[in-house]
Amino acid sequence: MRTQVAILGAGPAGLVLAHLLHLRGIDSVVLERQTREHVERRIRAGVLEHGTVALLREVGLADRLLRERMVHHGLELLFDGTGHRIDLTGLAGREITIYGQHELVKDLIAARLATGRPLLFSAPAVGFSNLDGATPVVHFVHEGRERELRADLVAGCDGFHGVSREACPAETFSRDYPYAWLGVLADAPPSSEELIYAYHDRGFALHSMRTPKITRLYLQVPPDEDLAAWPDERIWAELRTRLGRDDPGWQLAGGPILERGITALRSVVTEPMRYGRLFLAGDAAHIVPATGAKGLNLAVADVAVLATALAQWYSDGREDLLDAYSATCLTRVWRVQHFSWWMTQLLHRDPRGGADEHAFGQRLQRSQLEYVTTSTAAARTLAENYVGLPMDWIR
Ligand code: FAD
Ligand code: DHB
Repeated sequence: MRTQVAILGAGPAGLVLAHLLHLRGIDSVVLERQTREHVERRIRAGVLEHGTVALLREVGLADRLLRERMVHHGLELLFDGTGHRIDLTGLAGREITIYGQHELVKDLIAARLATGRPLLFSAPAVGFSNLDGATPVVHFVHEGRERELRADLVAGCDGFHGVSREACPAETFSRDYPYAWLGVLADAPPSSEELIYAYHDRGFALHSMRTPKITRLYLQVPPDEDLAAWPDERIWAELRTRLGRDDPGWQLAGGPILERGITALRSVVTEPMRYGRLFLAGDAAHIVPATGAKGLNLAVADVAVLATALAQWYSDGREDLLDAYSATCLTRVWRVQHFSWWMTQLLHRDPRGGADEHAFGQRLQRSQLEYVTTSTAAARTLAENYVGLPMDWIR
């Protein structure tokens, strides 16, 4: 097989890139390891930045999203039994959108198939050759046979566990956290109109949602936690405790749990996001801890930069934007890394250290929570980062 751009991975990064290239008349082949059913059912992110939605709308990928999304203008920080609203729109002038990543992925797959350009499921890439030459080759498996895809360039959009990251002899910066998230999707109406980020002595909890009938909830758990240790009753009891508040009129609505899983929290950045003709984008290049709700948004921001650079290269042979790709993306990546780390350390119970260190850490968290809920300047910093810096922030 031969194409212009070989795209590995049919997640948000790979599929949005495929569409942006299609609109510019650039051919691509998308290779996805999993089946279509698998990627369309994978429950992940839920918060889309204003800029992500604007880009999707501009390129015709947001029709269903705009009909079905929930628009939020604020979020709540809950501590000591009291909720404090952060007026995101009032402070930062932009709103956020709640729309499940798997719903977006369904829309992106439908849009790709409608173009008639290739998208192969159950087609894992297994390796590369000639990445530093003019015609890189992707080796992949499809229908039981090993095949080759020749391209001008390769976009490694195959996530954290893909083959692209490992093929890049780059430097990695990372940080692990001594906790993970247990996430559940529940057949229960949200108990609040907005997201609730809860700081509690027993650990962090998050109340989010997908639709007016489906709630998405998360609990901080130890990183090696066994899901089997969390029967439904324990999950609901812990959520009720951590999301509990002094207001006696407030109750967490329960219901059948539709899906559950444990996700590690980590920070990773690969620098540079390029090796020869291989360009990394999205989770293949960086991971942020989920507390800032940024991973998907960062993936879309990367491919917007990459598509523009590729279009310039194909139209007039100029390489300057491609050469600047990594540095351009990394400016945003590190801003988002800092924000995601900041939200994470603010809200999680850190089990490390002795009693003294723990007490000191808790007092620092409390001071930050009090500051961000009483100072307009501090709240605005949170709001500006949470709704997302504009796509052209650094270009
Ligand atoms: P992925 O979505 O991981 O896509 C990569 C694709 O490549 C996958 O489909 C994979 O199957 C495929 N692949 C892997 N290996 C190969 C191979 N060898 N060959 C071919 N294909 C391959 N982000 C937010 O912005 N907001 C949120 O609210 C948010 N919440 C989150 C909550 C949870 C619980 C989790 C787990 C993540 C959350 N994120 C959030 C992060 C977000 O889901 C990711 O950052 C996003 O999926 C990144 O998109 P991507 O396309 O780069 O990678
Ligand atoms: C969701 C996930 C997040 O990581 C977050 O910070 C907010 C909401 C969600 O899945 O809805």
